[in-house]
Amino acid sequence: MNLFEVYPLFPIEPVKASGSYVYDKEGTEYLDFYGGHAVISVGHSHPHYVSKITDQLSKIGFYSNSVINNTQVDLANKLGEISGYNDYNLFLCNSGAEAVENALKMASFHTGNSRVLAFEKGFHGRTGGALKVTDGPKMKSEFNGDINTTYLPLNDLDAVSDALAEGDVAGIIIEGIQGIAGIIEPTNDFLQGLRVLANKYEAVLILDEVQSGFGRTGDFFAHQHAEIKADIITMAKGMGNGFPIGGVVLSPAFKASFGLLGTTYGGNHLACAASLAVLEIIENESLLSNAKKWGDYLIENLSKVNKISKITGRGLMLGLVVNGDGKALRSSLLSKHKIFTGGCGNPNILRLLPPMTIGKKECDLLVEAIKEELK
Ligand SMILES: Cc1ncc(COP(=O)(O)O)c(C=O)c1O
Repeated sequence: MNLFEVYPLFPIEPVKASGSYVYDKEGTEYLDFYGGHAVISVGHSHPHYVSKITDQLSKIGFYSNSVINNTQVDLANKLGEISGYNDYNLFLCNSGAEAVENALKMASFHTGNSRVLAFEKGFHGRTGGALKVTDGPKMKSEFNGDINTTYLPLNDLDAVSDALAEGDVAGIIIEGIQGIAGIIEPTNDFLQGLRVLANKYEAVLILDEVQSGFGRTGDFFAHQHAEIKADIITMAKGMGNGFPIGGVVLSPAFKASFGLLGTTYGGNHLACAASLAVLEIIENESLLSNAKKWGDYLIENLSKVNKISKITGRGLMLGLVVNGDGKALRSSLLSKHKIFTGGCGNPNILRLLPPMTIGKKECDLLVEAIKEELK
């Protein structure tokens, strides 16, 4: 059997990883400023992460959601404590798209409506409902048509207000920071305005923090920068540091009932152990302040590079707008300097999404390599 080839591949096979570095079969070291697509939050194979998962597996790796599983309770308690969303509830699933599916469904159950307001260039995943609210015509089949979705320009509060006034909206879905679009931030005023409008029109405000959450921006969730609370938050990527897990955080206004949501694997013992280890490492190693500190350092040093015309984002979720060929820069960083970075929909923009455990050495290596390539 052959693989169904949907991914263009770099000719590199990582076989080992540690902290901010990955290694191929020949032992070549690569610096990871891509985080395996924004997934590696606390560093590759962190010893606490490895020992927590190994220890859990030696006890019990999986049983169904029909029995008590206190690893889920421990995870929910720790997440509430660290995120500041103590009084909210947690539904566990397996990926970002699945988290978004459940969030949209809850908004529709709650309001009885089906129309969703989403934003231009936004990305929310590739399953049925998630793709319906994703502004990516090339990814969609007929099945994922835009019926019931209205795309609005980011940061245009009047457009949101006019759409909500039509009275049939279930929810508004917005990324904490748009990732795949090229690290584009909603302004604080806009997020605060959305909060007010969602309350006024009784629409559910869904913050998709699949990419921007779990500390990457220096706040636990990116929207907390605007000091607002969401009704529903979706999470995945950094949540498991590579172990597949997703989650939906729901305000107490949403009432659970048996059978309302469900999944076979969501919240399994191993996934919960992995995510709990991530939270413990974030706390023990002060990774929110680390993300902020090294994000500020990168912005300060990279903004001095002539051919970088703009830097977007915060913490360790940064977009470098390159005055020239961004795609070529990304390939030479990888081939010559052995540094992984991320691309996005816009070929002039490079995404930086390193593990939150990086330090000065890693930042300096990247800055020097970029300076050399753009001189
Ligand atoms: C903001 C956002 N939402 C949802 C998803 C989908 O997550 P997954 O690939 O785990 O289904 C992604 C993936 O990149 C994302 O960036």
